Amino acid sequence: MQTMVETRNLRKTYSRPDGSTIEAVKGVNLEIQQGEIFSLLGPNGAGKTTTISMISGLVEPTEGDATIGGFSITKQSMEAKRLMGFVPQEIALYPELSARQNLAFFGRMYGMGGKALRRRVDELLEFVDLADRQNDRIDTFSGGMKRRVNIAAGLLNSPPLVYMDEPTVGIDPQNRRRVLDTVKLLRDEHNMTVLYTTHLMEEAQELSDRVAIMDHGEIIAMGTQDELTQQVGEEDRLEFTIGAQEIAEAVFERIQGETPGVTRILFNPPEQLDEDSSVFAPALLTVFAKRGRTALPQILQELDSAGVEIQSVAVREPDLEAVFLALTGRALRD
Ligand SMILES: Nc1ncnc2c1ncn2[C@@H]1O[C@H](COP(=O)(O)OP(=O)(O)O)[C@@H](O)[C@H]1O
Ligand SMILES: [Mg+2]
Repeated sequence: MQTMVETRNLRKTYSRPDGSTIEAVKGVNLEIQQGEIFSLLGPNGAGKTTTISMISGLVEPTEGDATIGGFSITKQSMEAKRLMGFVPQEIALYPELSARQNLAFFGRMYGMGGKALRRRVDELLEFVDLADRQNDRIDTFSGGMKRRVNIAAGLLNSPPLVYMDEPTVGIDPQNRRRVLDTVKLLRDEHNMTVLYTTHLMEEAQELSDRVAIMDHGEIIAMGTQDELTQQVGEEDRLEFTIGAQEIAEAVFERIQGETPGVTRILFNPPEQLDEDSSVFAPALLTVFAKRGRTALPQILQELDSAGVEIQSVAVREPDLEAVFLALTGRALRD
């Protein structure tokens, strides 16, 4: 396999107007192989956009460098940029122009023109499934459709590599489905390399060949999904939502002592949402167990005989959320 993107000790320190500084990215080392979908997964503020902006040449690194197909983004930026397309988080389209006019405009900025440009625009409108709306003004498009035009714009120069920065944020489920399918098509049928950022575990899980988990400007874990989930062992997570109810310590001790495979129990007691009312968020009981499904009936029985009212049960196999939880003690969405 060939390396498409490599970063070495990439750092970015921003200065704030008040003179203080923030280390947005603290020395990132990544290697992305040709033909893979590589996801950068992390909560808001983790440093994903800053990282992707540095390796696309939009933001200058404070330290370190990245190579794209062997070309340094800081020293050979022309050659490096020729190999990449970029789909930014914000929509950068002209609202009063049609989808087709927007794409033609961006194509001319890449130095394309004539028949070749017309053919490429046709192809891309077809690819993002907007051929039937190509002559409509962008300001009549939904957010999801605009996002698809944006994706087409990022692919105009037929780059072997494309960066996509949270391309599904703020769009409806149907468009989101299309975007995810498009990303897979780019890899599977166009042999492209995709660097994809998201704060959603489900997306990283569905798309990625490899994942880097990012938090507070650092990569805290990297590998295939199997490699990452193996780090947290083979335990399943059994999640029980309980009514607004406390549970006696003795119940946990019985579950832990008598159910084969159970290793650990976490209990988040019910929380009063509002001081003046009696509205409570339900309590959450998490039981970590090897072979969770086998352990489930006995746990249910223990809870039932203790008079615990269960509202829902979910069995979760080791996933990227569990990896993030194990490494940071926080949930990805916090
Ligand atoms: N231009 C900027 N000036 C100052 N701070 C910034 C700037 N861009 C990003 N940051 C800060 O850097 C950190 C990482 O931001 P970002 O890369 O946008 O994270 P993410 O994309 O993972 O949400 C955040 O704390 C953010 O507030
Ligand atoms: Mg971002």
